[in-house]
Amino acid sequence: MNIAPFELERLFAQHEFRARFLLSASDCESLSLADLLALADADSRMRWERLSLGYTESQGDPVLRAAIAANYEQIGPDEVVVLVPEEGIFLAMHTLLEPGQHVIAMHPAYQSLHEVARALGCAVSQWPVTVSSGRTGWQLDPGLLEDLIQPATRLLVVNFPHNPTGFVPALELFEAILDTAGRHGLVVFSDEMYRGLEHDPAIRLPSVVDAYERGITLSGLSKTHAVPGLRLGWLATRLPAFVDRLVAHKDYTTICNSAASEALGLMAVRATRRIEDRNLALIQANLGRAQAFARQYADHVHWLAPQGGSIAFPAWVGPGSVDEFSRRALDQRGVLIVPARFFGHAGPHFRLGLGRANFPKALGQVEALLQQS
Ligand SMILES: Cc1ncc(COP(=O)(O)O)c(C=O)c1O
Repeated sequence: MNIAPFELERLFAQHEFRARFLLSASDCESLSLADLLALADADSRMRWERLSLGYTESQGDPVLRAAIAANYEQIGPDEVVVLVPEEGIFLAMHTLLEPGQHVIAMHPAYQSLHEVARALGCAVSQWPVTVSSGRTGWQLDPGLLEDLIQPATRLLVVNFPHNPTGFVPALELFEAILDTAGRHGLVVFSDEMYRGLEHDPAIRLPSVVDAYERGITLSGLSKTHAVPGLRLGWLATRLPAFVDRLVAHKDYTTICNSAASEALGLMAVRATRRIEDRNLALIQANLGRAQAFARQYADHVHWLAPQGGSIAFPAWVGPGSVDEFSRRALDQRGVLIVPARFFGHAGPHFRLGLGRANFPKALGQVEALLQQS
């Protein structure tokens, strides 16, 4: 398979555990094992204590699948496959796509959302998220989606709340997207890794898997639940036979999930609301700090408001390029800031991670950098 290096993951592999501060991390401050156990209900604690460390069911623990399915309207436990989130993208694309088919994917994006399809021999068209006309946030043009559709188009890939911009479409736009997909018989792969972290809960969209019969939803515990080290997520779909075909592909990746992760994951899924509230409080506080920072340093940073998730994608408008700014932040202040090109974007943006507890300290380092230059 001729697959391109995953630029963002290679960058993190180099710096994530070496840089003093991560100002572009997409996850929220991780829970400790003690935090998670303190959130657990009696039943999942009992399961944890009695856990056998054997192989597990390939599709995922039925009790965990039932807990996941309970968070959807149209999905039952048999329509859920538990897996590593990134594995979910890889396996879904392998299960769905044939060489020569056409895929439309939002852009910029978490690279695997388009690169796996390209490496499988599909043509991929970018559907761009662009700076809104008022230059205060982001937008997506539904007319352009219609124009991008070809006879060979099989799949539309969306990601709301969007990584890296934090864009969440209004309900009318979301419905228009699904209406377009429906009229052209497209499968919609919806990456919902940040769903539940909308800054205003009123704008939370329905899950695609509930709203659209030919939808596949990817979700997981890495962002909204603050336990990325469990390496656990899921695909949910009502597409006939898709689950069986995907599980057959899974025999070539992980076969089944870690028993310990599934038992701990059950605690996290059952505590969804409480963990979301904890993460949102962190994000809201850091969002306020980021906005104040952008106001104070308006000659360096142009703020573009995110509406959901633990990330923002402001523009660097200071002297030099965003790459130079990012290099100086790392070299002089030990702060990792990821510039736009790691999301395949040519603009002067950088990703800001809003979910970490040491965000104020990391921002303080950037402030010192800007004051010294
Ligand atoms: C949009 C999106 N999808 C999928 C993933 C993959 O999640 P994981 O790293 O937990 O496998 C990420 C991780 O950053 C992401 O941002």
